[in-house]
Amino acid sequence: MVVLGIESSCDETAAAICSDGNIISNIVRSQEIHNDYGGVVPELASREHDYNVNHIVQKALDSANLSFNDIDSIAVTYGPGLLGSLIVGLNYAKGLAVGLGIPFIGINHLEGHLFSSFISGDEIDYPFLCFLVTGGHTQIWEVKSFGEYILLSTSVDDAAGEAFDKGARILDLGYPGGPEIEKHSMGGDPTFIKFTIPKVKSNPLNFSFSGIKTAILYKIQSMEKKEISDNFNHICASYQEVIIDTLLDRLEKNIKLTKLNKISITGGVAANKRFRKKVEFIEKENNLKCYFPDLKYCTDNAAMIAKVGYYKSKNGIASSLDLQACPNLRLSHIDLK
Ligand code: KG4
Ligand code: ZN
Repeated sequence: MVVLGIESSCDETAAAICSDGNIISNIVRSQEIHNDYGGVVPELASREHDYNVNHIVQKALDSANLSFNDIDSIAVTYGPGLLGSLIVGLNYAKGLAVGLGIPFIGINHLEGHLFSSFISGDEIDYPFLCFLVTGGHTQIWEVKSFGEYILLSTSVDDAAGEAFDKGARILDLGYPGGPEIEKHSMGGDPTFIKFTIPKVKSNPLNFSFSGIKTAILYKIQSMEKKEISDNFNHICASYQEVIIDTLLDRLEKNIKLTKLNKISITGGVAANKRFRKKVEFIEKENNLKCYFPDLKYCTDNAAMIAKVGYYKSKNGIASSLDLQACPNLRLSHIDLK
């Protein structure tokens, strides 16, 4: 069975082919047009998707040595994300499915991330904890089986990736902020600024990142220009460290609570090397089995959409052509549609 996956929820236009469960091509075009704006400009993002989507799909087919007629079904992200960007991918997929006379399946982008550690071959061993750390979400899920998910922790304000992006803007770095802060942290002392790990009173398992963004803003405003430039790597390393330590604090709490010892860590922030290193430390200390996606599957991609589309196709699941883009789509506890 050949599934074409299409992803256009934010600023990556991506297409991938999953053939009998294996990803045989994976094309991602990151939109550079936003770099000068410190964040994604929604109108520009949808225009770029519209301009590129057909070309990217053709590239994915070419790289798999397949043609349109070889596709059995089309999986496409229908939320969450930017409305205009989602509409471009979704309508392209609907049109192609109608033209080829094949089913199309709307995929929740978060469900794509949920299984992204298992794209390259590791067997999925249920139940496991999935730590989803993206630019829009910071959540810990108990994945009981395919389609059966329990939300254990979530952010009450900014996501961890967003904290990296906003911090980078305060530090005059480019977008996306995570890789920029990581790069500028090299050789830095993570204890230079003593940030406190933010707590959420109403639920100690939840995350809050808006306070540390304000903390770095005030700290920077209180420093002389020269002091900032002389200590730039220390500042970046300290900011990176408090984000990572906050993530790890809640992860450890959930491990204790659920007693689950298989953890999958996914999303753009899972590409961070310091984060991976600290997770590996916890993994050894607690005798856990941690799974990370390949770096190319941490950030947004269509391979994860094609793979979930493949699971759903195998279960005979297809979507109606009436399916609408859902910018605020959530993962429900039982998600079998
Ligand atoms: O999963 P993703 O590509 O898109 C969403 O679904 O949001 O995640 C993007 C986020 C951005 O906020 C970006 O700054 C962050 O992931 N990110 C990183 C790194 N690479 C990407 N954060 C920290 N370290 C990185 N190396
Ligand atoms: Zn994503």
